[in-house]
Amino acid sequence: MTELLYERDGKAIGSLQKLRFFPLAVAGGKGARLIEESGRELIDFSGAWGAASLGYGHPAIVEAVSRAVANPAGASILSASNEPAVALAERLLASFPGKDTHKVWFGHSGSDANEAVFRAVTKATGRSGIVAFSGAYHGCTIGSMAFSGHTVQAGAAKTEGLLQLPYPDPYRPYRDDCSGDAVLDFFRARLNEATPGSFAAAFIEPILSDGGVVVPPEGFLQKFAALCREHDILVVCDEVKVGLGRSGKFHCFEHEGFVPDILVLGKGLGGGLPLSAVIAPSSILDCASAFAMQTLHGNPVCAAAGSAVLNAIEKQQLTEAARHKGERLYRALLRLAERYPLIGNVRGRGLACGVELVKEGESRTPAKHETMKLIYRAYELGLVLYYVGMNGNVLEITPPLTITEEEIDQAIDILDHAFSDVSHGRVPDSIIDGFDAW
Ligand SMILES: Cc1ncc(COP(=O)(O)O)c(C=O)c1O
Repeated sequence: MTELLYERDGKAIGSLQKLRFFPLAVAGGKGARLIEESGRELIDFSGAWGAASLGYGHPAIVEAVSRAVANPAGASILSASNEPAVALAERLLASFPGKDTHKVWFGHSGSDANEAVFRAVTKATGRSGIVAFSGAYHGCTIGSMAFSGHTVQAGAAKTEGLLQLPYPDPYRPYRDDCSGDAVLDFFRARLNEATPGSFAAAFIEPILSDGGVVVPPEGFLQKFAALCREHDILVVCDEVKVGLGRSGKFHCFEHEGFVPDILVLGKGLGGGLPLSAVIAPSSILDCASAFAMQTLHGNPVCAAAGSAVLNAIEKQQLTEAARHKGERLYRALLRLAERYPLIGNVRGRGLACGVELVKEGESRTPAKHETMKLIYRAYELGLVLYYVGMNGNVLEITPPLTITEEEIDQAIDILDHAFSDVSHGRVPDSIIDGFDAW
């Protein structure tokens, strides 16, 4: 008998880079669906953690990548300019309010982009302090882990001079304050204690994604940015997961009435190819040369995919679509929440949505075990989604922006079935053996 793909994977590929929730083995993809080896199709409510912004096999990406790969303009931006990378940089700058003062840096991942920003801001300003948030996931390289606050990186060495703030969570308020003011008071107090000029930059996710899809209270980001600026601290918005239309605005910071000094993009920018970008003041990105580079940075094939993604977002009006589809999604999830006490909270913006699971009858006690069983059962029924959060009890829904309303409805029916099975004890505990992802 032929060995199954998942078994071959187990034998041939190490666990270091695996984050597995169920035995999914993908043979292909089409639109918002993944196709297993057996030919079974599953709706992808994760969108490869948000990377598959246009779904799988979008004609615009197929065409752009095929053209770029057939006549490649070299392989990188390091020692020669290339048209796809320069065109994409110009396009990104045009989308950003500070375009005349800013430039672009290209990378392969959110991790390398955040690490490059961290290294560049400390070098350019001569300051070593960094402000960041607990629960924040900025990457999995030494540099990006040094200021990340997610539990999965608890063992990683942190940068000296890191000030970690609680992320204001309206569902689980810090010091009983739902407005976020308690966090700002804490920050203000730390700033007053510190030597002036200690901090180079403050990294913030406008929606805390892997930390639990937490939308900060209204007005928080604006006040946070104002406080940073009083102290000459650069504000870095990490929109790797929620940028480029997903939130229902092209840039997620547009919801918040402020403009960051530095914007970090990744995941969806490449539409499934490895591509990240930083938009930052020239004073930061020109502070040195040959300082933050990898051989294939600015790769023309990936850059061509990036431009195809941006074109499709504009032409297909995917930002507006994310807003409308998101509304349909929230309405349906709230209807489920009325029927299943396991659902404690539904939140998010556009197609960046979180569903927090809590124990029945208890005071918001995280229901991690039930969450694990729920997504496993959903997978059996034909839906792919994963969980995030500091307590591992938040379903993260970040489907391709191209997902159809019918697919959203089908996915909700599957979730309904899975919630019913978990709530009525029809899913055995043993189902998740070996899948305690994070
Ligand atoms: C907000 C945010 N920043 C950075 C990263 C790291 O990106 P990558 O995994 O592409 O390195 C992630 C990944 O989940 C993320 O959600």
